[in-house]
Amino acid sequence: MAVAVPLHEIRAEFAELDDPVDRTTYLIEIGRTLPPLDEHFKTEENRVLGCQARVWLVAEERAGPPRRLDFLADSDAQIVRGLIAVLLAAFNGKMPAEILAFPIDKLFAELKLPALVPMRSNGLTAMVRRIQAIAKVAAASEPPAKADSESLPLVPLKPLAREDRSRGNGHPREEQKPLLPATIVTGQPQAASPIDVAAIRRDFPILQTTLADGCPLVYLDNAASTQRPKQVIDSMVEAYEHYYSNVHRAGHRLAVESSAHYEAARESVRQLINARSPTEIIFTPGTTAAINLVARSWGDTNVKAGDEILLTMMEHHSNIVPWQELAQRTGCTIRWTPITDDYQIDLDAFERLLSPKTKLIAITAVSNVLGTINPIDQMIEVAHAAGAVVLIDAAQAVPHEPIDVRARNVDFLAFSGHKMMGPSGVGVLYGREELLDRMPPFLGGGSMIKRVTTEGFEPADLPYKFEAGTPVIVPAIGMGKAIQYLQKIGMQSVRAHELMLTRQAHALLADIPGLRILGPEPEHKGGIVTFVMDGIHPDDISKALDLQGIAVRAGHHCAMPLHERLGITASTRASFYLYNTVEEVGKLAAGMREAQRILGR
Ligand SMILES: Cc1ncc(COP(=O)(O)O)c(C=O)c1O
Repeated sequence: MAVAVPLHEIRAEFAELDDPVDRTTYLIEIGRTLPPLDEHFKTEENRVLGCQARVWLVAEERAGPPRRLDFLADSDAQIVRGLIAVLLAAFNGKMPAEILAFPIDKLFAELKLPALVPMRSNGLTAMVRRIQAIAKVAAASEPPAKADSESLPLVPLKPLAREDRSRGNGHPREEQKPLLPATIVTGQPQAASPIDVAAIRRDFPILQTTLADGCPLVYLDNAASTQRPKQVIDSMVEAYEHYYSNVHRAGHRLAVESSAHYEAARESVRQLINARSPTEIIFTPGTTAAINLVARSWGDTNVKAGDEILLTMMEHHSNIVPWQELAQRTGCTIRWTPITDDYQIDLDAFERLLSPKTKLIAITAVSNVLGTINPIDQMIEVAHAAGAVVLIDAAQAVPHEPIDVRARNVDFLAFSGHKMMGPSGVGVLYGREELLDRMPPFLGGGSMIKRVTTEGFEPADLPYKFEAGTPVIVPAIGMGKAIQYLQKIGMQSVRAHELMLTRQAHALLADIPGLRILGPEPEHKGGIVTFVMDGIHPDDISKALDLQGIAVRAGHHCAMPLHERLGITASTRASFYLYNTVEEVGKLAAGMREAQRILGR
């Protein structure tokens, strides 16, 4: 099989192109010259896992000798098709030993691909590994007399019909205008925000900077992680520069001061969620770690074969996998609450699924994909009536709206510092004291004990029983500062500001042909707007937006079961926080129109 575009041509073209927009456009263009892969090869077996988009790769043998291989691959993302075109140009028609010896990393460096497509470097590596694995098998085996379908991972293909695979098939680059900065679309006038966004933005050093190409940053990836104000950064610098020490161990002055700041951070968390006592606040490395703590410590002691854990179809993997692991350990069953076609939890089904067997329900307060604000009060009430314990994944809730664990009768609540302007590496597990008291320690080691003898140990009191080893001292202090910052603004105001931005985003994006928002109306959701676009892969959209300085996230957002339920494999998500502006929402909408133009739709 001839390659779509020969390598020397790709090299020459890339050598001439400096501008990332031109380079990306060229990548898309060569991707378009790839012959499509027959549908029957698009099987799970032929998928290359590890790529953000879906990629299938198969190989065929050229009539020899010598033994030469050709690879065929396809993806549902245009930029990935471009990368495939580069790989095929590099490898096709070579002998297995030549494939294995080919300096592919040098080629990537020469073409500056890692800088152009940083998000796809894992996928690129996965594709190269698959190609090399196939070449290794071929190198180690004798050429079969006839095509042998057992000799995996070689997948023999019928010879391809000759066709015009020359460049520029209907998409000449000259027709494409250079990318212009997105124009600002403000749309309908919106209610004024209750917060002074301009003043807030001045607190965030990163929002004062421009990207490497001079583009202003439009940061709309807050559901993944937020930015930090100077006050939070300074609080951590101050800790390291003036009083850092380990906590709760030594009696010297630094240790006392460090411990006091660490405990003050715990008190800030307690106030934020209105827990009864700071002993109910456990610092963990994040939401994921907090949920794992409950699954291991509470789950292993309270759940047995035949019991049920009830989840919903809109959970993040962090609130799925720990329960699946618990099921593997104990033999319990996971049940799934469906969602309705208007992106809400099916409450009737939820009630039907609850039974005396249900030991725990684990639900997200706000979906990280749909933005749906779930009726957790109602769900907690019926779950408690059925005798189940309730864990709330509040990773997308605590940073954005008031949450009162006592008023809402929550048993366990988990959230992360980095999603609320604190540093990464710290999060919180709130647990009702009666529950935490009866749970065994999760990790063993220093600080979580009262006494250790050769015979055994006696665990420390709460909360230290669950904070084994040196805890996340300075990140917790930074998180405490972030909470103070949020409380000064007021959680109601944060919520009102995000609702205003979400309404604006819905109004502007709804006007774009082919764009479909996944999620309920703004009044029923947090500041998350996730969408799909006819005929354009989310991965390509995010790259096209990134070229305009707009940071969004594309992919399954760690919610594969939800995406499967929606009948898609990926989506694009814009997510807002208190420092985002109406103008930035306008840039997102304008950026989407530009993305459509770049991607030729
Ligand atoms: C709803 C939800 N749960 C859990 C998590 C996991 O949080 P972390 O990665 O901070 O542990 C996330 C992060 O995206 C999330 O959005």
